[in-house]
Amino acid sequence: MIAVKKHYIDTYSDEQSFVKAVADWVTKPDESKTLMRGAIRRFKIMPPMPFPRDDLKKIASYIFKGDIEKPKGFDKHFKEEHEKGKGKKLN
Ligand code: HEM
Repeated sequence: MIAVKKHYIDTYSDEQSFVKAVADWVTKPDESKTLMRGAIRRFKIMPPMPFPRDDLKKIASYIFKGDIEKPKGFDKHFKEEHEKGKGKKLN
């Protein structure tokens, strides 16, 4: 989730557009809209999660505002992955 947040907040920096983008994605994951191409390549596309829209908005809002736990080594991993991707249009 911290990786999702980092990717989405760059493109959708205000809460409203962030919540919409995440809720839309979760309802209908669509490869043409991904912000995490490398993750799809590695893990395949995630399954749709058919929660009620209001619940999805709450979840997305929590991801936007909340203090999402960062696994140990995440910053290093993120930096390495993104340096690898530069110039290769991975992300
Ligand atoms: C309410 C629950 C969930 C939320 C809010 C959520 C949200 C998201 C978002 C916004 C992305 C980034 C999409 C992109 O731009 O590519 C993502 C990626 C991903 N999610 Fe989820 N997800 C949820 C549940 C799940 C579940 C249950 C699974 C696995 C069974 C899963 C597996 C993945 C994987 C593998 C990726 C990276 C590849 C991809 O983009 O599809 N997610 N998730």
